[in-house]
Amino acid sequence: MADGERLICASDALLDSGRAVRFEVEYIGEKAPAFAVRFEGRVHGYLNRCGHLPMELDWREGEVFDSEGLALICSTHGAMYGADSGRCLGGPCGSTPLVALRMEERDGKVYCKGIDDG
Ligand code: FES
Repeated sequence: MADGERLICASDALLDSGRAVRFEVEYIGEKAPAFAVRFEGRVHGYLNRCGHLPMELDWREGEVFDSEGLALICSTHGAMYGADSGRCLGGPCGSTPLVALRMEERDGKVYCKGIDDG
């Protein structure tokens, strides 16, 4: 395992547009909730913190996709985010994206390598 990466789950725990796997990351010196999802075959990870207000997205634990499985949606006021980018697609998030994480999938496992700061 490389420096600074953390095993999150087995690859088969993430189904395309399915339930998120929740975990925690260190963000600005504090533990913060985060999640991993699979979308169009690829794994993506974000802080579980809406760009509108600092609320978790899930409407039920791990349920962060809209009903079509095409975008991430905040259960509080309906902000929509691109599952592959974290960009706000509509609703009260305005121009504020989700905070993306660096995720990697290899050998049937999913790893988080920290905050994606560019
Ligand atoms: S807190 Fe997410 S849309 Fe308002």
